Amino acid sequence: MEKITQTRLVPVAVIHDVADAVPLARTLSACGVDLIEVTLRTPAAIEAIRAIRAELPDMMVGAGTLLDIYQVEEAVKAGALFGVSPGINRSVVEKAHELELPFVPGACTPSDVEKGLSLGCKLQKFFPAEAAGGIPMLKAMAGPYQHTGLKFIPLGGVKANNAADYIKLPTVAAIGGSWFVDAKLVQAKNWKEIEKLTKEAVQMVRQA
Ligand code: 3PG
Repeated sequence: MEKITQTRLVPVAVIHDVADAVPLARTLSACGVDLIEVTLRTPAAIEAIRAIRAELPDMMVGAGTLLDIYQVEEAVKAGALFGVSPGINRSVVEKAHELELPFVPGACTPSDVEKGLSLGCKLQKFFPAEAAGGIPMLKAMAGPYQHTGLKFIPLGGVKANNAADYIKLPTVAAIGGSWFVDAKLVQAKNWKEIEKLTKEAVQMVRQA
């Protein structure tokens, strides 16, 4: 969790070919981003997590889109160091806690937030950030929850053109998205473009 709040940038990767996992992670690492969320949306995801852990021991690799307890177990076995879900599911959060996997559940309403808080989750993914009200919604949610220490990672529709506005909010611990690790660029093995976009994102976060 500390690593996420230090890096302030969470690359959300959809990896279709396990051979792309390590080159992608190396590209991010070379830009100063030793953090990656690999979404469990492709058959290659679990092996991708395993490969990154084996080749880049300093990389904080997490598993995203964890929708059930079996995926949590698989992610932990593959070496995932944190877990993320788009929504909040009590059994998934409890399984993650049982397996000592730091976990970031998704939330986009006050009820989701409170469910997360009741399960001890002080870091939550605000998803889908842009569609769920974006910056005005986050500002409104700061009112009743900021004093609890709750922090958000807005994800979903966060891009180069709006990321700086999100990162400046006091309740935002980090921002994330796929705009600098786009699946099409990964499939095209366009590491140069990913490097360029990641460096721009890192620079934007530093300036903000
Ligand atoms: C996701 O779960 O897909 C992430 O939140 C990333 O969303 P994005 O592709 O809109 O950046």
